[in-house]
Amino acid sequence: MRVPAELANAFGAPFEELIGRFVTEEGLAPSPEALRSHRFIARSVIPHVAKLSALFNRREAEKSGPQGLAPYWKESSNPENLRLAYFLYFMPSNLFRAASIWAELARLGYRWAARGPLSAIEFGSGPATGACGIAAGERHAPIGLPAGGTWALIEQDRAMLELGVRWAGRYFPNQGFAEWGTRPFHRKLSLGSGLLPRSAPRFQLWLMSFFLNELSEDPAEIARALLDSWERHLENEGIAILIEPALKVESRKLLEFRAQLLSEIRRRKLEDFKVLLPCLGHQACGALANAEDWCHEEVAWWRPPYFREIDKLANLDRKTLPFSYLVIARSMRSREELLPALAGTAPENRQRLVSPAHFEGKEQEFFVCGQDGKRRARYRAQGPEDPAAELERGDVLLETELRGDPNASRISRIGKRG
Ligand SMILES: C[S@@+](CC[C@H](N)C(=O)[O-])C[C@H]1O[C@@H](n2cnc3c(N)ncnc32)[C@H](O)[C@@H]1O
Repeated sequence: MRVPAELANAFGAPFEELIGRFVTEEGLAPSPEALRSHRFIARSVIPHVAKLSALFNRREAEKSGPQGLAPYWKESSNPENLRLAYFLYFMPSNLFRAASIWAELARLGYRWAARGPLSAIEFGSGPATGACGIAAGERHAPIGLPAGGTWALIEQDRAMLELGVRWAGRYFPNQGFAEWGTRPFHRKLSLGSGLLPRSAPRFQLWLMSFFLNELSEDPAEIARALLDSWERHLENEGIAILIEPALKVESRKLLEFRAQLLSEIRRRKLEDFKVLLPCLGHQACGALANAEDWCHEEVAWWRPPYFREIDKLANLDRKTLPFSYLVIARSMRSREELLPALAGTAPENRQRLVSPAHFEGKEQEFFVCGQDGKRRARYRAQGPEDPAAELERGDVLLETELRGDPNASRISRIGKRG
């Protein structure tokens, strides 16, 4: 996914200074300079980054004990350092992922159309990661969010929730949203009892970042429950953003969720719900068709300096951040009205790159996914001015002419890159 340079560059020294001062004031680090101390990072942060990383990468079968991953904040002998590790490492990466999805909406021409001050909600908010990601996205790739608004944050861990309220209180104004506030709700959500009480209001923006995979229910149950909630609590012209790990099991679970959601939308004859991204239509999922396949995005960023040090010491490499995602819109407007970049190209002539591209001689080879599913394709650019001279995972190809079978297709024309 192409991210505006300004956003990819937004996590350098000034961000490090902001987060360093914040964790010091929170009593989680002895001083802002501690983030540059090899000794502090190695002793207080790395063991917990390693532990959380192993936990989040555990296979589905191992996660689905009676409590799933739920108690991990309480599992540590040093909960402060566990939170610090999450805050310094996983929070900024997930924040950047959410901001990148926002930038993708902006790139395809999406404009905010809901009325009144922003009313948004983040489920399983941890340290308000997703909410802060939208602030960063709107700052660097604006789609027209209002200057004033409120984020409801729902989280089962009280200490994380409170940390998130204070962090959002610092980060929102830093990104230019001094009139955004938060309302914390300390609760353990359960699908069975409905995600929100019936009396809860409607929200324009609904966010779940690395949360769905912590639920034990199957994709069909989750799809029914979320659609119930959206019918009741997602505002007209609102959107829901779901971000999940790029791992095969979790990614396939999200793809199955999409399939179930689409069938539930059809069964209920709802004309105002659309899966907007990453798929450019409501076709059957090209990746689900093969039991070994899945679908993910990847974004590149300039990591904060302290983050590079954590990567080095923990033997990790988060120069690029993979994830799977869905954006669902509630609107009677057509996909082309919502994403004007697509207008003028018939649905069968739109494709999205769902793999990296590599050169085979003068041709680029890659996988695309479109109305007729997923296919391996080749394209020979018409010189350096060609908008598709160097393709990347996530590129949207418009006005394409394509022939051949799913294993060997040839794209003879790409009119525009979305
Ligand atoms: C992997 S973290 C993601 C946090 C944050 N959204 C982010 O992207 O950084 C998942 C969060 O969901 C919370 N969570 C998991 N199950 C929950 C539930 N049933 N009710 C409320 N919060 C829950 C966890 O406590 C944890 O903070």
